[in-house]
Formats: sequence, structure tokens, C-alpha cells
Amino acid sequence: MTSVLRPHAEDQFADELTILAKTDDRPRPPGWRLSPWAVTTYVLGDGGQITPKYIGPRRIVEVAVATLATDRALLLLGVPGTAKTWLSEHLAAAISGDSTLLVQGTAGTAEEAVRYGWNYARLLSEGPSRGALTPSPVMRAMAEGRLARVEELTRMPSDVQDALITLLSEKTLPIAELGEEVQAAKGFNVIATANDRDRGVNDLSSALRRRFNTVVLPVPASTEEEVGIVARRVAQLGRALELPETVTGMEEIRRVVTVFRELRAGVTSDGRTKVKSPSGTLSTAEAISVVTNGIVLAAHFGDGVLRPADVAGGIVGAVVQDPVSDRVVWQEYLETVVRDRDDWRDFYRACRDAG
Ligand SMILES: Nc1ncnc2c1ncn2[C@@H]1O[C@H](COP(=O)(O)OP(=O)(O)OP(=O)(O)O)[C@@H](O)[C@H]1O
Ligand SMILES: [Mg+2]
Repeated sequence: MTSVLRPHAEDQFADELTILAKTDDRPRPPGWRLSPWAVTTYVLGDGGQITPKYIGPRRIVEVAVATLATDRALLLLGVPGTAKTWLSEHLAAAISGDSTLLVQGTAGTAEEAVRYGWNYARLLSEGPSRGALTPSPVMRAMAEGRLARVEELTRMPSDVQDALITLLSEKTLPIAELGEEVQAAKGFNVIATANDRDRGVNDLSSALRRRFNTVVLPVPASTEEEVGIVARRVAQLGRALELPETVTGMEEIRRVVTVFRELRAGVTSDGRTKVKSPSGTLSTAEAISVVTNGIVLAAHFGDGVLRPADVAGGIVGAVVQDPVSDRVVWQEYLETVVRDRDDWRDFYRACRDAG
């Protein structure tokens, strides 16, 4: 067992990938480690040895996997915290056995990040040569026939996005300085993620958009589904962090998820009371982190049982991002919704104490 803080998916789930590779007798697209069917099983789990990673509609995963077997790239789109990055890592791990060929898109991402750069010391001493060239993750993915991941595609400047276009349509990367090119080996493709809260996808040029099939990852359909996702991820994170045993009250998880869903939707779950939505995103990812923090509190400072006081501070912190306007939103929710729920008394008190 490695002692790194966060192993890559292909290392963490190496056993599951090996089992699948052994039993998988369906056709594998060229360059793929597994068949599309086995990749989908890896992602969604099989109720047995293969644990679910992404929890959501099967069809969405099938469409995403099928896209990667075509000549189009895959764009995972959705609001923050819908597991876009998570799913892309697992797809790359299952299909290529390598989730590390990653380009992080930011406003400062340079063309070298999708093409290649130079080791200037060697460039000066040797002149342009293969040895002086530093390949980008995308170039390596092309040469090795693997998947490259591009995070936050819409944040990259448009000239860098444009560099991707040639690459995706020609499947070749010219190295003008050497008069050479790198042709993509079979198995190469790109998974990009984009957040539709950021600069919109409309900022993608239509030329680039046509190179991608877009798959929208939904927010969990029901409270039950979201509670399930949070419970499962929290348990995994707890094991990874080697936390002392705690009793994870499903009731607390349900409460966190309910509060976040109601504030997100702007209405209580019974549909009766309108509430205002705060400025921050209250996604499944935030719920996971509030509950994880709560468990750490319960484990180290409490009696090992997750209690309202362990999550209250985290909830208030997640909701109140803007100290003025969000505070008003939260107070109103607390006094008009939380206070009136008979079985939420402890929680109401804990929230008041928390701020
Ligand atoms: N449907 C889901 N199934 C499994 N895990 C989920 C699901 N939704 C959210 N998560 C969990 O939420 C966390 C955050 O997910 P991730 O970072 O991939 O979100 P994202 O969509 O990339 O967000 P952002 O837009 O902020 O980059 C991960 O730990 C992931 O496991
Ligand atoms: Mg992400």
C-alpha cells in the first residue's frame, strides 16, 4: 500500500481494474485497456467486487464512454460539484490505465500546455532537437495512444483552445521547428470538463465545440440519491484519512443535504415555503466536505458520534460566503424553516450557537 495522500485512480483501484481486464471478453476499441462495457461497470460498480465511483444515470456514463470510442472528444459539462473531474479521472484510468495526462485550464494556460515547449538550456546548446523538446500531456497522450484530460476548458484563452482544434481534427501535432509531426496513436482522445457557472460554454468557438460531444452531468435527482452519494464518499474519505471509527449518523447527512438542496432550489422540500438562495454554490461536493469535517470533529473532540454541533459550523461556513447578504439569507432560513421542524430542535440550537 502506498502512503501518498491521494493515489491516482488507476493505483487506488488497480485490483478492480485487474479483475475487469481478466473477465472482460467484449471487444475493446483499439488502444483501450477495457471494453466500453467494462469501463462502464468500473465506473458504476457491479454490486460486488467493483465499487461504484460515479453515482448517476447509467445512460450518461454509456454515452460518455461511447463518445470516447469515436473520433470526437468528450466534454463533461455541469454546475460545480457534479463530479466532472471525478468522472474524467476514472474514465481515463479505466480506458488508458493513466489519469495523469492532465492540462489544467486557467486564464494563464499557454499554448505549450497543449502542444510542446522547450528545455531552453538544451535548446541553446543543441539547437532544436527531440531531446530539447518538452512534450505537453496532450502530446504524450497522442504519442502513447492514451486519453488526455483538459480541466476547465472554458477558462483557457481562446488561442490555446484554437490550438486544440487542429489537434483534434487532424489527430496530428506538427513540430514546425523540426519539420516533424507526432501522429496520434490509436486510443488517443481528449476528455475536457467545463463548469457552466464560469464563463459560458458559448465562449467556446463553434469550431472547437463541433469537435466535442457534450455530456451534461446532472445534480443528484433526489435527496435520497444525494444522501447516498455523500455517505459513500464520506466513508471512502474517512478510510483514506485513516480517521478513528465514528458512527456516521445518516440523519445528520440527510440534514446537511436537505439544507443545501432547499437553499439551492429556493424552496423547501415540501414545496410550501420559498427561501432565498445564498451566493455560494452548495453542491454535493460541499456537503461531502461539511460532513467529513464534522466526522473529524466528532472523532477527535467528541464521543465518536456525528452530532448536529459537528456539522452546524460547517454548514454556516458554506452558506455564509458573503458576510452581509448571505447572513441575512441564512438567518431567515434558520428562523422560518429550521426552527419549525420538531425533529430538528438540536440542530436548530447548534446552528444558532455556531453563528
Ligand atoms: N454523482 C456523484 N457520484 C459520485 N461522487 C460524486 C457525485 N457528485 C459529486 N461527487 C463527489 O463530489 C466531489 C467533487 O466532485 P468534482 O470535483 O469532480 O466536481 P466538479 O464537477 O469537477 O466541480 P467543479 O466544477 O467545481 O470543478 C468528488 O469527491 C465526487 O466524488
Ligand atoms: Mg472540476
